[in-house]
Amino acid sequence: MSSAIVTGAYGAIGSAICQGLVDKGYDLTLVGRDEARLMNLQQKLETRAAGGRVDYHVVDLSLKASIVSFARSRNKPLDLLINNAATGPLRRTESAEGVEMQWAVNVLSYFRMIHYFKDHMINRPDARIVNVASYWAGGLDLSDPEFRKRPYDNDVAYRQAKQADRMMTVAWAGRLKGSNITVNACHPGDVNSKLSNSFGFGGHETPAEGAATPLFLAVDERIKGVTGKYFEHLQEVRCSFSSDHKAIEALFNELVRSL
Ligand SMILES: NC(=O)c1ccc[n+]([C@@H]2O[C@H](COP(=O)([O-])OP(=O)(O)OC[C@H]3O[C@@H](n4cnc5c(N)ncnc54)[C@H](OP(=O)(O)O)[C@@H]3O)[C@@H](O)[C@H]2O)c1
Repeated sequence: MSSAIVTGAYGAIGSAICQGLVDKGYDLTLVGRDEARLMNLQQKLETRAAGGRVDYHVVDLSLKASIVSFARSRNKPLDLLINNAATGPLRRTESAEGVEMQWAVNVLSYFRMIHYFKDHMINRPDARIVNVASYWAGGLDLSDPEFRKRPYDNDVAYRQAKQADRMMTVAWAGRLKGSNITVNACHPGDVNSKLSNSFGFGGHETPAEGAATPLFLAVDERIKGVTGKYFEHLQEVRCSFSSDHKAIEALFNELVRSL
């Protein structure tokens, strides 16, 4: 039985990803910060579970302490990690650990989840990490990633975060090369959600359509062994951020400081 963790599990795209994994028989751990919503999704998914178990873990992904405690508490192997959670507050806010919220959730949680869970994935035959990023990406400013010097704009913060997700995918893939673990990123789809609404957008795709590319990267046989790539609409697309190795290393070194 393969086991998976999905962050942002009860969100619009996250819940459709979870449905897809349950239909494939995965043993699934739902991750989110609202226990009632996790329980509700767990109950819904269990009624359609194709043999796998569904459990959940309450994690505030803006906090290193919460992620570390989750990783320490898990004592079973992991085949699939899907980093999907994201936030886009209108005003600059900080986590309880004093980190700007989009940097904390949209970037550091991806990085920390990979770092603290990669040892759970060692020795699995086909271990995969999927970073749900976006085509809406750019403008990363490593001299001020948390908007301490420049005025905060939630769209600017989001675009730089999604650029960082795509760049860290390349960095992790390089570091994990030669291991059994692959790391890929994707744009999911344009789906109406709490997140898209926070940028003034709706969405013209269904949650199932939005989940299709993350699920493709997670389960499709054709992706076995593929690593460090970026996908949109089930297709590999050249990522404009993947060739600047100096910038990728600078980002990685910055993110390592968050561990
Ligand atoms: N929707 C789109 O059109 C679109 C387009 C491109 C990329 N994406 C990407 O797709 C992914 C999913 O987005 P979505 O549209 O499905 O958004 P969503 O419905 O708002 O889901 C985001 C999820 O992240 C969770 N989350 C936020 N902060 C958290 C924290 N501190 N701790 C734990 N969980 C937290 C949210 O939980 P709470 O409700 O408790 O905050 C929610 O479950 C994101 O990575 C996003 O960047 C979406």
